[in-house]
Amino acid sequence: MNKTLKAKLKYLLPVPIKKLLKFVLYTCEDFVSTLKGTRDKDYPPKRLNFVGSSEFKKVGAEFLGHFSKAGGLEKDNTVLDIGCGIGRIAIPLTKYLNSDAHYHGFDIDKRGVTWCQKNISNKHPNFHFDYVDIYNKYYNKKGKIKSEEFEFPYKDETFDFIFATSVFTHMLPKEVLQYFKEINRVLKKGGTLFITFFSLDKEALENITAGRANAQLTIPFDENKTCFYSHKNVPEAEIGYLEDWITDELKKVDCAHNLKVHHGNWDGRKEALSYQDIFISMKA
Ligand SMILES: C[S@@+](CC[C@H](N)C(=O)[O-])C[C@H]1O[C@@H](n2cnc3c(N)ncnc32)[C@H](O)[C@@H]1O
Repeated sequence: MNKTLKAKLKYLLPVPIKKLLKFVLYTCEDFVSTLKGTRDKDYPPKRLNFVGSSEFKKVGAEFLGHFSKAGGLEKDNTVLDIGCGIGRIAIPLTKYLNSDAHYHGFDIDKRGVTWCQKNISNKHPNFHFDYVDIYNKYYNKKGKIKSEEFEFPYKDETFDFIFATSVFTHMLPKEVLQYFKEINRVLKKGGTLFITFFSLDKEALENITAGRANAQLTIPFDENKTCFYSHKNVPEAEIGYLEDWITDELKKVDCAHNLKVHHGNWDGRKEALSYQDIFISMKA
């Protein structure tokens, strides 16, 4: 689809219609690739891809590179993938982590977790996936648990490396704060945190105002004006936070040691490591 048309449809169509159109399009693509015998069985069928990018393999490989080069991920680490989706990052990690490593991922979308359990854990027993029935207006409208009350199902100081790629871009402020608290609890001292955001610094705010940003985060979530979203009625579809708020809150939970922010190009910046903004830090 042409880029301008895609950008227009992004905000014109209501979220359920967009989801339906994607499902129909991807089902057709799956049908064609199955007929041609080109479908890669190590990856989920496209119609199950609810995680956003159509460049599933490329994004997974990209993040594995960032984890090892910028994040210092080691091959035998104990790793937590918050909001693991349908294995976009876990699949490349199976080729990087060794048998001494432990990977845990959890998500609120049952289809994604079930696919990962059946297609990844079966071949890699040190990869564990958990489904949690948490409410999210965009991803799990019938969820019964509130993120802001959720305690991660792991013991204190379990993980060497915790990451969340494109997850806090779908979570509300109180929920993010609860997750930061839990991250602090389950991350080992000296462990690494790797998370992505739509982070609103001066340049991003200017780019949004000038219409240069891909994510038009213009609607304030509340009177605090610490975060802004783009889809009327569904803040969880795409939400960004003031950069100062993110860094202050990471400091409050002792997870801002050696903090580095790598700005992404979602807001139209030229020099960027990735699409979203990447925050890499350590627990003091
Ligand atoms: C854009 S997808 C990214 C998935 C995965 N991290 C990746 O990079 O492929 C956003 C994911 O966040 C998950 N999610 C949303 N709210 C969540 C929450 N409170 N806890 C855990 N996962 C959540 C969604 O179910 C979805 O899988």
